[in-house]
Amino acid sequence: MARVLVTRTLPGDGLARLAAAGHEVDLWQEDAPMPRAELLARVATADGLLCMLTDAVDDELLSAAPRLKVVANCAVGTDNIDLDAADRHGVAVGNTPGVLTDATADLAFALLLAAARALPATAQAVRDGRWGSWSPTAFLGHDVTGATLGIVGGGRIGQAVARRAAGFDMTVLTNTSRGGTPLPELLERSDFVSLHVPLTDSTHHLIDAGALARMRPNAILVNTARGAVVDTAALIDALHAGTIGGAALDVTDPEPLPPDHALLAAPNLIVLPHVGSATTATRARMTDLSVDNVLAGLAGEPLPHAVTS
Ligand code: DGY
Repeated sequence: MARVLVTRTLPGDGLARLAAAGHEVDLWQEDAPMPRAELLARVATADGLLCMLTDAVDDELLSAAPRLKVVANCAVGTDNIDLDAADRHGVAVGNTPGVLTDATADLAFALLLAAARALPATAQAVRDGRWGSWSPTAFLGHDVTGATLGIVGGGRIGQAVARRAAGFDMTVLTNTSRGGTPLPELLERSDFVSLHVPLTDSTHHLIDAGALARMRPNAILVNTARGAVVDTAALIDALHAGTIGGAALDVTDPEPLPPDHALLAAPNLIVLPHVGSATTATRARMTDLSVDNVLAGLAGEPLPHAVTS
């Protein structure tokens, strides 16, 4: 019997398979990330760790976990995990690819549409009693149909966003790590720019002041990837200066964004609380893949969804 530390309660019945396989499950039941000290203390006797993107799995944690065989991140992104350190410690790492592609692409498109038509602000106008009459000049947004969408990142989610864009007769430009439309050209030509790259050293602040300056004055930036792909300070400046049309963000840097953060005072901005994969069915599938990874790792088998550095 192995001991598996699970750092949050998860939807679906996937976790039951850990106990059914004879493993002892140490489940953190509070609806908040495990405090670091608690995580370090409990991982010390764990053979498997099923963790969230809010848990930093670094050399300190891995050194505190001498029995650890496997880390299953309940996310496709693994920027919270030091993969080189895991490799050094002989710990297998897994993630949850594929199962959250459509939910995340749906949310990216929802953000794009909401920002194009300023839905949060116009809905708020109704609630505030600022809807005097139908008006030919009020609440005007931007066309999505026929517009140009720049997709940064050619992975599963970027491709799924491109499929949705085809239904809106959009011209799609894609920049990938292997080529496609060069990023400067994509930024200069796009009415909407949607980010779908993992957070790595090379994508950190990929969208900085220089990149924002290349965007069209009406262009809208959509980020459902990771907050730190965008330089937050530069984005605040661009929104206040009106050098871009708006931003619609599911992810921010920092995260969570404090309610008094300067970003929230910027105009033409939508911010969501990192809910790209937040559907009941998707999260249950993510749980299942995470459990598959834990069970394989504890059995000494290759992880079905392994991540390497
Ligand atoms: C991921 O999986 O990386 C998302 O950001 C959360 O589901």
